[in-house]
Amino acid sequence: MKPCKVNWFAIRSSLAVFFSVVTLLIFSQSPERASATTPAKNKQSQTDRVSAAEAPPHKFVGVQAGDCKKCHPSEVATWMKTVHFQSADIRLEKFEANTKKYAEALGIKQTDLMKDSLCSNCHGSKSVVNGQLQVISGVSCESCHGGSGGKNGWLNRHQSYHQSMPVPRTQETSAHRKQRIADCEKAGMVRAPDIYNIAKSCFGCHIVNNEKLVAAGHKAASAFEFVSWSSGEIRHNFQVDKNHNAAAPSLWLATSNGTADQRRRMKFVVGALAQLEVALRRRAEAKNPVVVPQLAGLAAAANGKLAQINGMSPNAETLAVAATFTPLLATLFVPQPNDESVYAEIADNIAEQTKLFVQNHNGSQLQALDPIINILPAHFSQQYQKKYLKK
Ligand code: HEC
Ligand code: HEC
Ligand code: HEC
Ligand code: HEC
Repeated sequence: MKPCKVNWFAIRSSLAVFFSVVTLLIFSQSPERASATTPAKNKQSQTDRVSAAEAPPHKFVGVQAGDCKKCHPSEVATWMKTVHFQSADIRLEKFEANTKKYAEALGIKQTDLMKDSLCSNCHGSKSVVNGQLQVISGVSCESCHGGSGGKNGWLNRHQSYHQSMPVPRTQETSAHRKQRIADCEKAGMVRAPDIYNIAKSCFGCHIVNNEKLVAAGHKAASAFEFVSWSSGEIRHNFQVDKNHNAAAPSLWLATSNGTADQRRRMKFVVGALAQLEVALRRRAEAKNPVVVPQLAGLAAAANGKLAQINGMSPNAETLAVAATFTPLLATLFVPQPNDESVYAEIADNIAEQTKLFVQNHNGSQLQALDPIINILPAHFSQQYQKKYLKK
């Protein structure tokens, strides 16, 4: 296995010692940092932020310093085979080809790529090292599950089944479990059962939030479909059995009455809703006549999926979203003066309906969707296929 060239092995010990000091240090810096990175997102509340990558990055501890591997060895091994893991090495460290082209078009210096840059928001994970935000790895656990550090961060409490002595999961009291999970979610942890926020974190990076970048030739969006893109190289459902990668999060399977089929159906619908919401949030901010149609097309495609869902298995929430969105199709592709307020409001509306959908459904009533869901392939990147699937 090619070791990660990013310097996080080297910084790990200093980070571990440094961490308590660093936490204090960053807390005093965080407001400027957060606004420097994400000016447009300041209005959004914690729950309505689009992606974990857009949260204040000072909460990232990193896979090494967070010791994730000690308790999640199979998850870490799976992650190390993904392009997420490699992304900082291949897109930020090497200043060549399209990296160079995009960075130069945006006036980003090579020396900033591995620090706090637009590019490292999506191609890496950042933490404060020696008082400065630096890239510590590629797209990491915390990019999807939320930054875990800080004084009240979720890292130390997410795995503790009892205050003082080590007890196994099966002996945790239900009151303790309830409190622990509430604390973790309050601290920003995006847990596996939280399909909506996980999907939003994916789209937060897979739909680009910068018009200049798209104008420079960077893709506006991936051909992302939540069910298939989360069941290929990304899948790491080893919590209950580290030798078996389950079809759905194993801890969720063990603690809810849900099945993998139900979860796929929920992911399919929530994925389409999240795509529409995030595409419209980006569309709200877009002015460039080349970029607007690309984002509009993405929203229209998500609406197409919703139409299919409503045709096969109609639900109050997806019908409500289609009813609010469909009248916009007439102007979606053309920039209008009041775009920002119009699309932001519709996106908020869709977010509300999606949260309701997640509350009101568990997938058991959505079997009618199975014929279109079951044909979705598990998605693997070309790099992954070449290295691990075709021998
Ligand atoms: C000391 C052991 C330990 C360490 C270190 C640890 N974890 Fe965990 N983790 C656990 C345990 C135990 C659970 C299962 C918790 C439960 O039963 O609710 C878990 C669960 C999780 C979950 C799934 C939660 C859910 O309900 O779906 C995620 C995500 C996670 N850990 C991420 C991480 C990350 C990221 C790191 C490193 C920054 C990390 N963990 C470090 C022990 C650990
Ligand atoms: C909003 C998130 C986001 C930002 C910001 C971002 N990227 Fe990307 N980038 C992606 C995603 C997602 C992909 C993969 C797209 C796909 O193929 O599905 C990608 C792909 C790439 C690729 C490979 C494909 C190609 O076009 O050659 C390069 C190179 C790249 N990015 C460089 C950069 C650079 C340099 C910057 C900063 C100037 C940057 N990216 C900013 C998300 C982002
Ligand atoms: C912090 C930003 C970020 C988040 C969050 C994120 N991704 Fe990615 N993802 C990327 C980037 C960047 C690439 C492209 C890597 C490269 O080529 O440099 C990528 C590539 C991928 C690929 C490989 C695609 C291909 O064909 O090459 C898959 C699959 C994928 N992501 C799935 C997901 C899923 C599923 C989620 C949510 C559960 C997610 N990603 C969340 C940034 C992100
Ligand atoms: C690209 C986003 C992404 C990254 C990166 C990521 N996860 Fe996850 N994680 C998910 C998703 C999505 C699920 C739920 C999977 C599903 O629905 O099949 C999940 C599920 C989990 C679970 C629950 C598994 C179970 O069996 O219950 C744990 C534990 C976990 N992740 C830990 C980690 C650790 C540790 C890392 C880093 C080594 C990591 N994750 C990196 C998105 C991500």
